[in-house]
Amino acid sequence: MTKLRAVITGVAGYVPEDILSNADLEKMVDTTDEWITTRTGIKERRILRTPGKATSDMGAEVTKELLRKTGTSPDEIEMLICATVTPDTIFPDTANTILDKVGAKNCFGYDINAACSGFLYALTTGAKFIESGMYKKVVIIGADKMSSIVDYTDRTTCIIFGDGAGGVMLEASDDGTGVIDAVLRSDGSGREFLHMKAGGSMKPASIETLAKKEHFVFQDGKPVFKAAVTGMVNTVRQVLQRNHLTIEDIDWLVPHQANMRIINSVGEMLEVPKSKVMVNIEKYGNTTAGTLPLCLWEYESRLKKGDNVMLTAFGGGFTWGSMLLKWHYDT
Ligand code: UT7
Repeated sequence: MTKLRAVITGVAGYVPEDILSNADLEKMVDTTDEWITTRTGIKERRILRTPGKATSDMGAEVTKELLRKTGTSPDEIEMLICATVTPDTIFPDTANTILDKVGAKNCFGYDINAACSGFLYALTTGAKFIESGMYKKVVIIGADKMSSIVDYTDRTTCIIFGDGAGGVMLEASDDGTGVIDAVLRSDGSGREFLHMKAGGSMKPASIETLAKKEHFVFQDGKPVFKAAVTGMVNTVRQVLQRNHLTIEDIDWLVPHQANMRIINSVGEMLEVPKSKVMVNIEKYGNTTAGTLPLCLWEYESRLKKGDNVMLTAFGGGFTWGSMLLKWHYDT
């Protein structure tokens, strides 16, 4: 009997309408369009400016689109996992708020905090609930309102991040497609290079933490850059080896969109032609947990049933990993 696998039966994305361009940033910090473009590949990003709107609102838009595309009613969702580092509130979690906003009452959900690798972690987790036969419909969301934790006076971080969300519907199939394998890793000793200093139990919010701007993203970019390239390349190779594949067998490489130079380095080291690498960083910047599903969403019409798709990501923690999936449907 063929193995029961979790297949993606629909993909959706949502980005806010407001655009923050490199020209806008030139007026806010000491930077230039030329520096940002050559050092990161980013031209613009989206910002969720509507007061009171949060990560769950973007996640709810994605979930509604997934329901529409897959002909699913809210009551049929059994589980929703939301990957995010910008939850609406520290508690309750954003997954539950999304479920409430889409009117899903027969299910449960929770958040996964693995920064830019969050979507991979969540997709792997959701796939196991499908493979075990426990659930038939699981929604996986990657969503971040990075503008809520970015210091728009810090030119080293504010040029990188944007807001956005994407997601997939997971269902069961035994047709040989779906999530095949994943290698996930983490190394907590990397936390000093990319983190938020205050607001958690180690350093609760205070007037002092506010004054020191400790509720924003802190990043030491260079070590993160190096670890990102190594981590993504190594885990892609491990997944290939475990599955007796070579890079020529891969139809699409879907890398986390953190920096065009990182994407190029990973592609070159793996010897993947540029035509097989999904890229949309120029439009959205780094949307953290949103980048991978936003890429799948934009390239959906070019994906064909049976395509071997390799997802790879690296983020704060450090967290990283790669996943092989066989695409389930033609659009
Ligand atoms: O998604 C999660 C994982 N995150 C990542 O993967 C991000 C990894 N890191 C990066 O993408 C890059 O390290 C950055 C884009 C963050 C920075 O690029 P870089 O090439 O590593 O620049 P740098 O930090 O080495 O800075 C080079 C110079 C510095 O000036 P000096 O010291 O050489 O005079 C910076 O002050 O560029 C300066 N600089 C800028 N100049 C103009 C830094 N940011 C800017 C800016 N505009 N926005």
